[in-house]
Amino acid sequence: MASVMMFILIPIGLGVVSCLFTLFYISFTSNFFIHSHQTHLTFNSTLNISFVGNLIIQTHTHVQFNGNHVNDNDVFHDRDAFVDNYKEMNRSLKIYVYPHQKDDPFSNVLLAVDFEPGGNYASESYFKKVLKMSHFITRDPSNADLFFLPFSIARLRHDPRVGINGIKDFIKSYIFNISNEYPYWNLTNGADHFYVACHSIGRFSMEKVVDVKINAIQVVCTSSYFVSAYIPHKDASLPQIWPRPGGNPNFAPYKRKKLGFFAGSLNSPVREKLLEWWGNDSDIFVHFGRLDRSYTEELVDSKFCLHVKGYEVNTARIVDALFYGCIPVIIANHYDLPFADILDWKHFSVIVATLDIPLLKKILQGITQQEYLVLQSNVLKVRNTSSGMFPQLILMPFIWLCMSCG
Ligand SMILES: *[C@@H]1O[C@H](CO)[C@@H](O)[C@H](O)[C@H]1NC(C)=O
Ligand SMILES: *[C@@H]1O[C@H](CO)[C@@H](O)[C@H](O)[C@H]1NC(C)=O
Ligand SMILES: *[C@@H]1O[C@H](CO)[C@@H](O)[C@H](O)[C@H]1NC(C)=O
Ligand SMILES: *[C@@H]1O[C@H](CO)[C@@H](O)[C@H](O)[C@H]1NC(C)=O
Ligand SMILES: *[C@@H]1O[C@H](CO)[C@@H](O)[C@H](O)[C@H]1NC(C)=O
Ligand SMILES: *[C@@H]1O[C@H](CO)[C@@H](O)[C@H](O)[C@H]1NC(C)=O
Ligand SMILES: *[C@@H]1O[C@H](CO)[C@@H](O)[C@H](O)[C@H]1NC(C)=O
Repeated sequence: MASVMMFILIPIGLGVVSCLFTLFYISFTSNFFIHSHQTHLTFNSTLNISFVGNLIIQTHTHVQFNGNHVNDNDVFHDRDAFVDNYKEMNRSLKIYVYPHQKDDPFSNVLLAVDFEPGGNYASESYFKKVLKMSHFITRDPSNADLFFLPFSIARLRHDPRVGINGIKDFIKSYIFNISNEYPYWNLTNGADHFYVACHSIGRFSMEKVVDVKINAIQVVCTSSYFVSAYIPHKDASLPQIWPRPGGNPNFAPYKRKKLGFFAGSLNSPVREKLLEWWGNDSDIFVHFGRLDRSYTEELVDSKFCLHVKGYEVNTARIVDALFYGCIPVIIANHYDLPFADILDWKHFSVIVATLDIPLLKKILQGITQQEYLVLQSNVLKVRNTSSGMFPQLILMPFIWLCMSCG
C-alpha cells in the first residue's frame, strides 16, 4: 500500500479505478467475453424475467446491523478471487478503439478531451482519457477481446450539429459506418463492443440500432434495474463523479455533529417523501433551497450523507459522501450500484428502501458507535486507492475464463 493516492481528489486516478473496475465488470459478466477466443456468438438477449426479478428483490434487502457486520467487514466480497482475476485481466485483456483523426468532423465527440473534465458527467470523459492511455489498448483489432465505441454522449448533446434530438441518428450512422468499414461489428452483432455514457440521455439513444441496446455492453451511470434500456449483467454501472477541487478534507469521525444531511432539488416523489418526514427534523437535515454553509462544510460535519433518487437513481452524491468521509445512505430502489460485483456496499454504506423513509432516523440511530467507526474506516478504504491496491481490484472473469478453457 505504498504510494497511496486519493482517487477522487485526483480524477485521473479515479478514472483509472473506474476504468479498471468497469473493464473488470465487463470481462466478468459478459458471457461473450468468456468465449471470445473460441467462437463468435450472435447474442439474442431475451431477458429472463425471473432472474431480473431476483435482482430486484436483492436490492430491497435491508442492511442488518449485527455482530457479524463488525467481524466480516472487508470492502471486497472476495478479495483473493478478485486479486487473481485482476492479475489475469491486467495481463491479457486487449481493447481496440475505433480510430479517428483530429481532422474528423466529429473529432470533438470521438477523441479523448485534452483538458481536465469537470461537472456532473465527468466520469464519461475520464474513462475515455484513462482507457486510451492504458496498456489495455491494442492497435491490432484481430487481437482484441473488446471494441470501444468512442462517441461521447455528453459532447453530442452539446454539439449544435447533433443535439439531443439528433443523437439517435448519429449513433445509427456511426454503427452503419463502422460495420461497413470493418468486419468486427458484424461478427458478433456488437456483443463484444461497448460504449460509456454518464448522462441519462445515453441510455435512450440506442433505439435506432437495437443491436447496440440488446447486444453491446452499455457502461452507464444511470444503471437502474427498473428501466428497460439497462440490462443488468450485460451492461455495467459507472460511478457518477463531480470532481471536487481542494485539499485533503477532514475525515475525523468524532467531530461530525449532524446525524444526516441531504441537499438537492425537489424533483421526485422519493425526495418529497423525505421532505414530508424529515423536513423539520433536528437530527436529519434536509435542504431543498440554498444552504447556509457550503456543501463541503455540511458533508464533513455529517455522519451520514443521503443519496436520494431524483430523476434518476444515480447522482454524484455517493462519491461526494465517500470523498468527504461521510457514510453514504442510499435511498434509490433498483440502483445497480457501481462495482457491486467486487465491492460489498453494505460494508461502507447504508442502503434504505424508499418504503422505509419513515424509519430513517431509527435506522441511523440504531447504528452503534462501533459499527459507525467500522463503516467510516471502510469509507476511507474505498476512497483511497494505490498502485498496490489495483491487483486486489480486478479479476473474477478469469476464473470463468480458465474454467472454460479447461
Ligand atoms: C431470440 O430468441 C427468442 C427465444 O428463443 C426467439 O423467439 C427469437 O426469434 C430470437 N430472436 C432473434 C432475432 O433471433
Ligand atoms: C431464468 O432464471 C431463473 C433464476 O436464475 C432460472 O432458474 C431459470 O432456469 C431461468 N430460465 C431460463 C429460461 O433461462
Ligand atoms: C458516416 O460516414 C459518412 C460518409 O463518410 C459521413 O458523412 C458521416 O458523417 C459518418 N457518420 C458519423 C456518425 O461519423
Ligand atoms: C455488415 O452487415 C451489413 C448489414 O448486413 C452489411 O451492409 C455490411 O456490408 C456488412 N459489413 C461488412 C464489412 O461486410
Ligand atoms: C415545518 O415547520 C413549519 C413551521 O412549523 C411548517 O409550516 C411546515 O409545514 C413544516 N414542514 C414539514 C415538512 O413538516
Ligand atoms: C487514505 O488517504 C489519506 C490521505 O492520503 C490517509 O491519511 C489515510 O490514512 C488513508 N486511509 C486509508 C484507510 O488508507
Ligand atoms: C498491470 O500491467 C502493467 C503493464 O504490464 C504493469 O505495469 C502493472 O504493474 C500491472 N499491475 C498490476 C497490479 O499487476
